Amino acid sequence: MKVSILGAGYVGLTTGVCLAFLGHKVTCVDPDKRKIEALERGEVPFHEPHLAELIELAKHNLTFTTEYAQAIPEAQVVFVAVGTPTGQGGAPDLQYLRSAAHGVGEHLGPHFTVIVNKSTVPIGSGNWVGSLVRDAVEARGASASFAVASNPEFLREGTALHDSLYPDRVVIGADESKTAEVLYSLYRPMLDQTFHEPPFLPRPDRMAAVPLISTDLASAELIKYAANAFLSLKISYINEIGLLAERVGANIQHVARGMGLDARIGTRFLQAGIGWGGSCFGKDTAALVATAAEYGLDMQIVRGARDVNQRQRERVVEKLLAEMKILKGRTIGILGLAFKPDTDDLREAPALDVAKKLIERGVRVKAHDPVAMDVFRRHYPDSGVILCDTAEEVAAGSDAVLLITEWPEYRDLDWDKLAPTMQSPVMLDCRHVLDRARVERAGFKYLSLA
Ligand SMILES: NC(=O)c1ccc[n+]([C@@H]2O[C@H](COP(=O)([O-])OP(=O)(O)OC[C@H]3O[C@@H](n4cnc5c(N)ncnc54)[C@H](O)[C@@H]3O)[C@@H](O)[C@H]2O)c1
Repeated sequence: MKVSILGAGYVGLTTGVCLAFLGHKVTCVDPDKRKIEALERGEVPFHEPHLAELIELAKHNLTFTTEYAQAIPEAQVVFVAVGTPTGQGGAPDLQYLRSAAHGVGEHLGPHFTVIVNKSTVPIGSGNWVGSLVRDAVEARGASASFAVASNPEFLREGTALHDSLYPDRVVIGADESKTAEVLYSLYRPMLDQTFHEPPFLPRPDRMAAVPLISTDLASAELIKYAANAFLSLKISYINEIGLLAERVGANIQHVARGMGLDARIGTRFLQAGIGWGGSCFGKDTAALVATAAEYGLDMQIVRGARDVNQRQRERVVEKLLAEMKILKGRTIGILGLAFKPDTDDLREAPALDVAKKLIERGVRVKAHDPVAMDVFRRHYPDSGVILCDTAEEVAAGSDAVLLITEWPEYRDLDWDKLAPTMQSPVMLDCRHVLDRARVERAGFKYLSLA
């Protein structure tokens, strides 16, 4: 099939490359000229494991352009994968979605085209995009045959390709069966798992056909928000229990394991720590609260999850204050800037917030990240954070080190070597990932958030 993808970001590029790998002819469109030129040279514009290798395998089916005119008229399916960042009052800023819908309407060909909202968009956006496209088609005195579908994305950065080729489920929202049928055919090799797995992304053992949830537009849109909000509140729940665990002298790791092994609860997303970051959970929970408010509803549980998450970041400073009494004039090192390992995405990363809070208190902040330092330099040239080439450099002379992103390489640092280089060997493990006994044996004072 001929497919166009609007937005060559984490979601759009991953989707485009996977569909090209499955045999479709894919054109990725993005107004960011630098991004498109980089992709044309075979460079990947962000860090995502195996993306460059999959692009190489699928490149005969891939085209990159900045021009809608080159991508839309021939396409049978157009995916909209533009950003939907938080706007005023928590509701998403839909300017990119609006301009994408307008651009589609300006260039749509006469044949039947399915326009798919893959971006996370508020409930009702399917209808809204439909009306924007129709207006743009009519404004040029043309007629077009199209339908809008919703196909929310559940990939996780860092394992985006694995999640896209071997998803837990595919959700398709469409108000007409003809529309849904087009998307079933598009996804058929992935739904049936009939494609030859890429050597570097092996199919999980016992992977069967992928469950398909076929529903109406509004339900598909709500599934995405409901799922992300649930994951967010699971994290905040364990962090709230962690607060109590600390007060009563319980071990939160044991509590989480004891809870999680109940199959109804599950162990994942029960890791107590600094809480969530990233481009999705914060904005999607804010959007859910804002949408509910439009209908006169108060999403108390979701609001609570957001408050607890914010509180965890403040607790980092409180912990340091309790330990060191005076922060002004201290040097504190941060290990990990990205919002999670295996990505260079800094959106809503807890490390940024913590660094800012510390700098405001007169702390000298040093930091290291295995892949996100270039992005950090580009986006935050005036942050005041001193970037170091190695974790060892971060530790040297510091009064405390905070482990904020659980990159695997930080777990096995040579603590015996690091401790004597520090002003005072204090380790605040914000992710509960270090071997406490080992770190303490090396002479560190070990602290955690629960
Ligand atoms: N990143 C994730 O992990 C993830 C997971 C699931 C869903 N989502 C959702 O997917 C959407 C995209 O997220 P992302 O992380 O890929 O964003 P991103 O910021 O990485 O990419 C968005 C891209 O859209 C481009 N763009 C802006 N306006 C455009 C237009 N009119 N036409 C074509 N391209 C345009 C931008 O230049 C940018 O490259 C969001 O709604 C997000 O909530 C993201």
